[in-house]
Amino acid sequence: MDALNRDTDLNYGQSRKYHIITYGCQMNENDSERLAGQLRGLGYSSTDQIEQADLILINTCCVRESAEKKIYGKIGELKRLKTVNPNLLIGVTGCLSQKDRDKIFTKAPHVDLVMGTHNVHQLTDLIKEISQSRDRVLAVWDQAERLAPDVPTVRKSQVSAWVPIMYGCNNFCTYCIVPYVRGRERSRPLADILAEVRQLGTEGFKEITLLGQNVNSYGKDGEETIDFADLLAAVDKVETIARIRYMTSHPRDMNAKVIAVIKHGQRICEHFHLPVQSGSDIVLQRMNRGYTTEYYRKLVEKIRSEIPHASITTDIIVGFPGETDELFMQTLDFVRSIRFDAAYTFLYSPRSGTPAATMPDQVPLAIKKQRLQQLMAVQNEISLAINEALIGQTVEVLVEGPSKNDPDKMMGRTRTNKIVLWNRGKEQIGQLISVRVLKAQTWLLKGEVAD
Ligand code: SAH
Ligand code: SF4
Ligand code: F3S
Repeated sequence: MDALNRDTDLNYGQSRKYHIITYGCQMNENDSERLAGQLRGLGYSSTDQIEQADLILINTCCVRESAEKKIYGKIGELKRLKTVNPNLLIGVTGCLSQKDRDKIFTKAPHVDLVMGTHNVHQLTDLIKEISQSRDRVLAVWDQAERLAPDVPTVRKSQVSAWVPIMYGCNNFCTYCIVPYVRGRERSRPLADILAEVRQLGTEGFKEITLLGQNVNSYGKDGEETIDFADLLAAVDKVETIARIRYMTSHPRDMNAKVIAVIKHGQRICEHFHLPVQSGSDIVLQRMNRGYTTEYYRKLVEKIRSEIPHASITTDIIVGFPGETDELFMQTLDFVRSIRFDAAYTFLYSPRSGTPAATMPDQVPLAIKKQRLQQLMAVQNEISLAINEALIGQTVEVLVEGPSKNDPDKMMGRTRTNKIVLWNRGKEQIGQLISVRVLKAQTWLLKGEVAD
C-alpha cells in the first residue's frame, strides 16, 4: 500500500480519468477490474465518457475472428480522440495483445502500450514508464510467473464478484486459442481464495463466481493438495455469501464428488454450464474434447437425478472442419434429446496456430450460418418451453439493479441463472426476494414481487 500512496503523491494520475473497454470472457472482466484497481492506486478516477478520458485501455479477446475484427476497428476509431487530445494514452491489453504483440503497433501507431495476459499486475509500473519516457511500451511475457502478485481491484458490481481460482488451460481443444494466450494451468492457493471470499462477504457482496478456464482442474498442477470439490465445499462455509457460482467446468472433469458437494452445499447454485461443443462423437474426437456423447448424456442424467431442479446450459460450435450435414444432424438430435436450458452457439472460426485451422474439409461460411440458424431455432423452442413451465412458480431472485433496457424494471437472477425482470418497487440491490413468474421468453422471465 505504501508504494501506491507514494505514487498518488507524485501526481501520476491525479484528477486524471480512465476508461476501460472490455471484450471477451469473465476472465477479462476480472482482469479489467484489476487494471482499474491499479489505475485508482495511481490517482486516476473512472469515466463513462470516453472523450473525457486521459487513458483508455482496451482489454481484448481473440477467441474468434469476429472479436478480433471488431477490436481492431475500435482501436482504429480511437485515433480520432488522440488528434483531439495529444496527451491521451491508449493501451491494448489482454488476449489479442498476447497473440499479436507488436503487430498492434504496426497496425495502430497511435497505441502507446501493448500489454499481455501475464503482465496485468505490471500496469502501475508501465504507466509510470510511459508517463516519464513518452515512448511506446510493449510488455508481453511469453509465460506467466507461477502466480502473479495480487493487485487492488475496483469491482463493477456491488453485489456479485469474480474470484479467480486458476489461470490458463492445458486442454488444447483443437479449435481453441486460449491455451496459447493464457498459458498453462496455475491454481491459486486455497488460503488466498478463502481470504478474498471472506473479505468480499465482509464488504457486502452477496454472490461470488469462482473463475477459471477449466475450474475442475483446480489443484491438479500439484500446488494444492485439494481438488475443485474440496474447494467448493470450503467456500460454501463462508456464511456471509449467499450464492456461489463457478465458470467454466469441462464435462470430462465434472464428477460425482463435485455434484455431491453442490447437492449438499447451501450456497452453491444449481446451475451447470457444461460446454458440449458438438453432438457428434466424430467431431468431439477431432476437437480433442476427451468425452463421448454417451458419457455426456450419462453426466446430465446423473446431475438431473441428484439435483432435479438444476439448470443445464452449454456452448456449441457449428461448422467445425469435417462436419457434414449428417454429423450436424447428430448435434441437432442431441440438443433435442438433452433439452438444455440455454445454449451459446458459435460459428467455427479458424484460429491460426491451432490444429483445426489446417484440418481438411473446412466448412463454407454460408453453410455454417445456415446451421447456426437451424440450431438456434431448435434450441430457442426448448429454452422457451422450459421457461414457460416456470410460469406461476415463485423463484428466489438476487436483485442486481435496474434493467439496462428499461430503467422502470429491475433485474435479477434465479439460482439457476435465469434472468428475471419485474416492475421496480421497494426492493434493494443485493437483496434476495421472491418473484412470481408471470411471463416467459427464450432468454428471460418476467414476474412480480411475491409477498
Ligand atoms: N474454457 C471455457 C471457455 C472457452 S471460450 C471452456 O472450455 O468452455 C468459450 C467458448 O467459445 C467455447 O466453449 C467454445 O464454444 C467457443 N470457441 C472457442 N474457440 C472457438 C473457435 N475457434 N471458433 C468458434 N467458437 C469457439
Ligand atoms: Fe479452450 Fe478447450 Fe481450454 Fe476451454 S477447455 S479454454 S475450449 S482449450
Ligand atoms: Fe477471449 Fe481470452 Fe477469454 S481469448 S474468451 S478473453 S480467455
